Amino acid sequence: MSNLLSINDLEIDEVNDLLKEARSNRNVRYNAELLRKSICNLFFEDSTRTRISFELAAKRMGAIVINFSEAGSSTSKGESLIDTALTLNAMDVDVFVVRHGTAGAPATVARWTKASVVNAGDGMNEHPTQALLDLYTIKERLGGIAGLHVGIVGDVKHSRVAGSLRLALAKMGAKVTLTGPRELVSARPGFGVNYDFPSVLKTLDVAYMLRSQTERHMTEYNLTGYDLTSERFNMMPEHAIVMHAGPVNRGIEIDSVVVDHPRSAILDQVKNGVVVRMAVLRKVLS
Ligand code: CP
Repeated sequence: MSNLLSINDLEIDEVNDLLKEARSNRNVRYNAELLRKSICNLFFEDSTRTRISFELAAKRMGAIVINFSEAGSSTSKGESLIDTALTLNAMDVDVFVVRHGTAGAPATVARWTKASVVNAGDGMNEHPTQALLDLYTIKERLGGIAGLHVGIVGDVKHSRVAGSLRLALAKMGAKVTLTGPRELVSARPGFGVNYDFPSVLKTLDVAYMLRSQTERHMTEYNLTGYDLTSERFNMMPEHAIVMHAGPVNRGIEIDSVVVDHPRSAILDQVKNGVVVRMAVLRKVLS
């Protein structure tokens, strides 16, 4: 595998190998495995978690990291995505980590350059490394993935996190239920849809809350009834955990008390992003 553009690029064995390798990275503060490799974070959209964890992952393995962000770049002078990628490719970048507002942009970079490409979020399409770190976190917290019931809640329609996560969970044998306002959640082949949030909550092992993707639509959707208040959190089984890819909007899709609860795995997800991305970088360069 030289690119990771979609969760569908990975077989089940490859996912398991990546999770195992990520676990073995837990105590690595520095090794020289990627010495002399150049990783370019090519970000056309804002990011805190993904960009910084890719940077840390690459630096922990000795790579050189270049951070491109659209603000301050020559795209303001009319340079296209392809010409930007060709320009950086001419400087012998080994891996492009691409975030872009248009679905398929990382695949375009992969077609036009000789570098490996990792999708760091493309429009409403996918965010595969987020899904991998989510699988890792579920396994760490609950001991496994197969047979669990995971509810993906809220703005499913516009969420690339949901796009990759539902594929990843199904691949690993979990049951997925999509729930949220009707205009944001529609039936998809192979996935259950249930608009009765309280009844779904009672059966969940994981409630995965989504942020309303306000940057991708002009409509003010009302999440009332699908926000995870303390009262609704208490309807979940006692072992069940809460997840969210971040950034979190406290008091909108999830109450502050729930964000900070010991059964919230939100900061575990952030922590695990580094070790998972170390494994992904190693794999695309192997
Ligand atoms: N989860 C996630 O993609 O967060 P960032 O937008 O901060 O990278």
